[in-house]
Amino acid sequence: MTTRVSKLRSRLHRLFSKVGVPDPGASANYLLAHCIGQRTLTREHSRLELTAQQLSKLTGLCNRRLQREPLQYILGEWDFRDVSLVMRAPVFIPRPETEKLVDLAKQCWSAVGASSSHPHSLSRPRLFSEVCTGSGAVSVCLLRDLPQAHCLAIELLPEACHLTWENCHRNGVSNRLHLINASLATPGLLGRAPPLSLIVANPPYVPELDMRQLQPEVTFESPVALRGGGIGGLGVIVQLMDFADARLATGGWLAFEMDSSHGQLLRDRFQNRGSLRLDRIESDFAGKERFCLYRKL
Ligand SMILES: C[S@@+](CC[C@H](N)C(=O)[O-])C[C@H]1O[C@@H](n2cnc3c(N)ncnc32)[C@H](O)[C@@H]1O
Repeated sequence: MTTRVSKLRSRLHRLFSKVGVPDPGASANYLLAHCIGQRTLTREHSRLELTAQQLSKLTGLCNRRLQREPLQYILGEWDFRDVSLVMRAPVFIPRPETEKLVDLAKQCWSAVGASSSHPHSLSRPRLFSEVCTGSGAVSVCLLRDLPQAHCLAIELLPEACHLTWENCHRNGVSNRLHLINASLATPGLLGRAPPLSLIVANPPYVPELDMRQLQPEVTFESPVALRGGGIGGLGVIVQLMDFADARLATGGWLAFEMDSSHGQLLRDRFQNRGSLRLDRIESDFAGKERFCLYRKL
């Protein structure tokens, strides 16, 4: 049995490819790096020899990957934008396209601040809500980049609430996090909390028919992270719009992620919802319509 990193990498690459593990090279690199106490493999690591203990650890991790457990759960941490987050099943793993949602939310936040001379708008944006927080990826980034902001995080899954807290604490922003373990649809949610400047969300939105096309890795994530939107995937999004209509301050913004099939539906059927007005739809890095922004009049 070889113990040299370069040879093990080739062998794992072949093995993962053979059984259909997506992006087999990345899995081989990350798992090997993890076993030698690194985050990524560099050329200098190629000639290293693994100890018996490292080899035994590698075998265990590879077996998990062969069962199609996501790399992020096996490694126990993953980067989102430039923050490092703890990852644990069954909490949803943040996807790379969601990184743009953070930029859009920050644009909305600045827009509220810029219009603060309007008599009916907010004097200063201070409070935002992230609905469907998951691991806390979006909240961590926003709280870190907006030092005046406080976040009301709303999440249904207790395991996800724990992870949001842990990730905010790890990244030094938990003192501005207020966590609510509840469904977005709970009547009277947020009670007497002040009006919000911004609501941001990556809700469950995968249309029921598309669930069958997903990779086996998603079965390790909680079904409530992807499902819940119903046949067309819009169920939670409509709840989110009603929540935003009730809780946003005048001039506040709602920014959310959606399925690429939703853009046209929202233009046709949800140009207005209560006092919300559709402002724009934005695409992800693959050119698919992915994000929707509403403004509260
Ligand atoms: C697609 S994941 C997004 C997680 C995270 N925001 C991200 O982008 O990585 C959706 C999250 O919404 C939560 N969720 C589903 N239905 C919900 C509801 N009705 N109210 C609150 N949270 C909900 C799920 O538990 C899951 O954590």
